[in-house]
Amino acid sequence: MSKTAVVVGASQGIGLEIVQSLLDEGHRVIAASRNIQNIESLKTKFSSLQSVELDLTDAKSIGALTNAVEHMGGIDVLVFNAGVGKFGSLSEMTMGDWDRMFDTNAKGFFLIISALQNELKKKCAQVITITSDVSSRAIARGAIYAASKHAQKALIRSFQMEFKNQIRFTEIRPGNVATDFGGVIGAEPSGDYLSPKDVANAVLHVVNSSSKMRIDEIQMRPIDREVVF
Ligand SMILES: NC(=O)c1ccc[n+]([C@@H]2O[C@H](COP(=O)([O-])OP(=O)(O)OC[C@H]3O[C@@H](n4cnc5c(N)ncnc54)[C@H](OP(=O)(O)O)[C@@H]3O)[C@@H](O)[C@H]2O)c1
Repeated sequence: MSKTAVVVGASQGIGLEIVQSLLDEGHRVIAASRNIQNIESLKTKFSSLQSVELDLTDAKSIGALTNAVEHMGGIDVLVFNAGVGKFGSLSEMTMGDWDRMFDTNAKGFFLIISALQNELKKKCAQVITITSDVSSRAIARGAIYAASKHAQKALIRSFQMEFKNQIRFTEIRPGNVATDFGGVIGAEPSGDYLSPKDVANAVLHVVNSSSKMRIDEIQMRPIDREVVF
């Protein structure tokens, strides 16, 4: 059955792959991010795609997304994929880096759920959040990023308790994925990296699951990686 999905953080990498995969399966998609050129190009192929310019750090643009969602009369799926990361030692990090990572990864998620909660409740929507495997463990040279993803996980779990059977939250926690994330340009899929499609497939698995079921968490890592929990 065709569903209505919103993808936040849709311009490239994992998010763009999720948009493409949802469209290929016949779903309607509202794709939102600061840059929308790649989404606009997809529109020539898919009439079921809408784009919204969204900067999670700007409350006004969140209002534009809320308006677009209200016009759809409720949504079935929200994928919160947007995220930023900077990696390095403590001495290389600034308060600006702290603000950017927390404003996007944690506060951005909080603002989106706050803004869309009534729409999400209409159809007991699935909220699928792409956090990271570091949402539950620490890493060196990624302290602020890991802390922001821990914060995101806390929000997901608290919201799930609050909304009980009104909204279904799923956290997807990938290890390294071959994208341009965090300044790593053009990483090639290899034994050491997952592909964006691997993550998109996990999203489709959740979307296609029974409406009576909630999938709390999916953790995925490249097979060659050290086994850590
Ligand atoms: N790549 C990895 O190894 C990896 C591993 C685990 C988890 N993740 C997580 O996966 C998610 C996607 O990452 P990716 O690898 O696909 O990286 P990416 O290519 O850098 O994509 C990040 C996405 O987030 C959006 N975004 C960033 N800031 C935003 C803002 N202020 N407002 C709206 N959208 C914003 C970007 O769109 P605009 O710049 O156009 O706004 C872009 O679509 C992130 O949450 C990341 O933490 C990545």
